[in-house]
Amino acid sequence: MKVLVTGGLGFIGSHTVVSLIENKYEVIIVDNLYNSKIDVLDRIEKITGVRPKFYKLDCSNSEEMDKLFSQEKIDSIINFAGYKAVGESVKKPLMYYENNLDICFALFKAMEKYNVKNFVFSSSATVYGLPDKVPLTEESPVKSATSPYGETKVMIERILKDMAFVHKDWNIAILRYFNPIGAHKSTLLGEDPNGIPNNLLPYINKVAVGELKELKVYGNDYPTPDGTGIRDYIHVVDLARGHVLALKKLETNPGLVVYNLGTGKGTSVLEVIKAYEKATGIKIPFEFAPRRDGDVPENYASTEKAEKELGFKCQYSVEDACLDGYNFQKAETERVKNLIHKTAKTL
Ligand code: WQD
Repeated sequence: MKVLVTGGLGFIGSHTVVSLIENKYEVIIVDNLYNSKIDVLDRIEKITGVRPKFYKLDCSNSEEMDKLFSQEKIDSIINFAGYKAVGESVKKPLMYYENNLDICFALFKAMEKYNVKNFVFSSSATVYGLPDKVPLTEESPVKSATSPYGETKVMIERILKDMAFVHKDWNIAILRYFNPIGAHKSTLLGEDPNGIPNNLLPYINKVAVGELKELKVYGNDYPTPDGTGIRDYIHVVDLARGHVLALKKLETNPGLVVYNLGTGKGTSVLEVIKAYEKATGIKIPFEFAPRRDGDVPENYASTEKAEKELGFKCQYSVEDACLDGYNFQKAETERVKNLIHKTAKTL
């Protein structure tokens, strides 16, 4: 089975590629390197012993995608490609709507023309907006999201439902992730955002290695046990395995299916800090700050459906993810330092 992974050099994409290769899938990666680095390809090869075929392409360009599909016999697609910074999307809505939707239009046109019937979509719990109640099930109402980024996920899910209606032989898995964290145990893959991280764990990682001074905890007056926001933090290696299970599900011709991929457990910001300190032995200085716009007090997944229909169950804890994420950050910081040292010596 040949699987096209768009955005396959990114954080979740690269971990999923490793899991696909370990499950004997043939993987082709397409990535425009907008928010990823080409050396992730070497690292995937180092971990798996396999170097997937790679095309540096812009997935939103339908001519480029058409050419790729004419050259490669694709059986399934997992689509990670897309802009995903919530805050940036509020400032640049047109860039987000155009890019994220054009990627899907280019892929769907290629699927129709080249008779590709299996599609896995990287969606997000953000489509649930401000939840009426938790845990969130796949039947919880999809609401208009709190950001253009989230809104692109809502729109693409709607487009997928319309495509499934006209293509009865298409198999589509919509996977709604909660909060992916952690890194690969090899310390070769992990989350390495450009600039100051927006998300909690990458920020804490930078504090832990001394690149940032202290964490700001956004809000301690939420209606939660300790007043801080609650989320469902899922280890990225568990999440990657969830994609392989979803792909296997599509081989049974289910049509369009939707799954939450989470741990089923909510963890507050203060509990994450405690878990991080326990896992790494490193104190994380923090101070309380005002709430962040767009944040919801609490969201975490009901994992019943994914467990029952995919056999999906998380194997790693938040503590495991904290330690793996820290080890990746420490190794990455070391690699960058060595690179600078080596470059300086050649000057
Ligand atoms: C988690 C908690 C913050 C940073 C976002 C997207 C979602 C998905 C995952 C793509 C919240 C608190 C955070 C900090 C803090 N992305 N926090 N200080 O907002 O739940 O989800 O990323 O699919 O779509 O919305 O994740 O990590 O930013 O925040 O106190 O410096 O940590 O208030 O309670 P979020 P997050």
